Amino acid sequence: MSTQDQSHEVWGSRIGLILAMAGNAVGLGNFLRFPGQAAANGGGSFMIPYFISFILLGIPLMWIEWGIGRNGGRYRKGHIPGMFAAIWKHPLAKYLGVIGLVIPLVVLSYYTILMSWTLAFTWFSLTGDYWGRTTQEAMSEYLRSYQVIGDAAVHDYWVPFGFYFLALGSTIWVLSKGISGGIEKLAKIGMPILFLFAIILVVRVFTLGPGVNGVSPVEGYQFIYNPDLSRIGDAKVWLAAAGQIFFTLSVGMGTLQTYASYLSKKDDIALSGIATASTNEAVEVVLGGSIAIPAAVAFFGVAGAMQVAQSGSFNVGFVSMPIVFQGMPFGQMFGAMWFALLFFAGITSSVAMATPIVAFFREEFGMRREPVAWTVGAVAFAFGILSIFWFQYGFIWEWDYWAGTFGLAVMAFLEVVIFMWVFKPENAWRSIHQGADIRIPGVFKFIMTYITPVFLAIILGWWAVTEALPFLRLEGGVGAGGPIAPGTEIYVHISRLLLVAIMVFFVVMVRLAWKRNRYDDRLGFVEVEEPLEDTPGRALATERS
Ligand code: ALA
Repeated sequence: MSTQDQSHEVWGSRIGLILAMAGNAVGLGNFLRFPGQAAANGGGSFMIPYFISFILLGIPLMWIEWGIGRNGGRYRKGHIPGMFAAIWKHPLAKYLGVIGLVIPLVVLSYYTILMSWTLAFTWFSLTGDYWGRTTQEAMSEYLRSYQVIGDAAVHDYWVPFGFYFLALGSTIWVLSKGISGGIEKLAKIGMPILFLFAIILVVRVFTLGPGVNGVSPVEGYQFIYNPDLSRIGDAKVWLAAAGQIFFTLSVGMGTLQTYASYLSKKDDIALSGIATASTNEAVEVVLGGSIAIPAAVAFFGVAGAMQVAQSGSFNVGFVSMPIVFQGMPFGQMFGAMWFALLFFAGITSSVAMATPIVAFFREEFGMRREPVAWTVGAVAFAFGILSIFWFQYGFIWEWDYWAGTFGLAVMAFLEVVIFMWVFKPENAWRSIHQGADIRIPGVFKFIMTYITPVFLAIILGWWAVTEALPFLRLEGGVGAGGPIAPGTEIYVHISRLLLVAIMVFFVVMVRLAWKRNRYDDRLGFVEVEEPLEDTPGRALATERS
């Protein structure tokens, strides 16, 4: 037990916990992915499946993940293999949980690349580097030249690497400071800045006059918020909406559970879980939906905005926004604010992605936090370099699809089955309500037991048939990568082989961990007693390493 005791951390305060959880969820998904997905999928027609997915998948999974995480914390398990094994006393449980180590590591490696673009564009806005590129073509060319490492038309090769190094380095530095000393402090600083910048930008977009096409930004709101039932039967829109709910809430990622494992059984998770989900949705729909889309619609019209969104998932943020900023007074300042806001949104999520892996090596192998954190950083860097070098071959989108889209639904399905069916609905319900400040309406027990798993199974089946299997057979490219160019299939194979290799690595590590600590799959783990003085967020053992 000694290694486990040393590894355990606690949250400093409830507000710190909520901000960190919200920071975990609120990310690039809210400000970049959401506008892109909503615009590409027809605005109002996307929002109906989106809200239904939020209620039937997002909220239930949020509670399930907090429940699984806090339950794991009772045994000092801050990683999914341990959390699954704590519930399901079967040798397979820990191996199923490996997905909860693979996904965050893989997503971390490419998410920090997207973050590095935001950091770079903060600088380019401040210095006016892209000023003068006022058409979509010119701005797209600028972005592409930055993204494709072999193209030094705009910047030297080292520039993207430098920003990537900074983005990943700052993530790992915060992580190395621990839960309350690093992640919680970052959330307390980063989240208020994010809110402030977002509100300023919303006001600025609202007060934009009609753009070059004579279209007012208000039409952008109408585009998203006017319910449109015409595509309600389109499965693609449903998959996009469900995928967005997973990504934006960070459900199925393995990170919320690790944060929740640092709570005690006397801490509330029912109210905190819904507070986190609601904060994320408010930020996404109200703030995220009120900046990029209305601005893009004002400048390019509804059809033009949809076209920008369909040309690449982040083009609304990186192509149309810089054009909008160039046309307004103090545009450089507003541009810097927009990209800095994205960076803060990103870093409060990226630190979360590394925590399950750090928790695993600390808890199971007795390693110290700093060396593990920097090693995770080095591994993510190595993978990230591949994504940067092979960006033009769709390497990054391949990982985003398998780990960041399809993988999240697989993990969510495993979780709901293990928590609601193996653990049983009564135990799950009781566990979520331990120390709770509210009682969750009983209808959610029914939803979590029946509707969520069935909905997930349908989505997974549909995804597998319409996308995953054709993608596996190389019949079309994935994500925003477009079709696979002839002769570049090798990069797709390498990216998939690497994913398999990462999975095998973690399977072996889990096996070694179980052997090393002599865990008995059938008996489970020993519950760790909590100290007598049990205040919210401070209940478990003290941080000693
Ligand atoms: N939930 C995080 C985001 O939205 C990963 O970016």
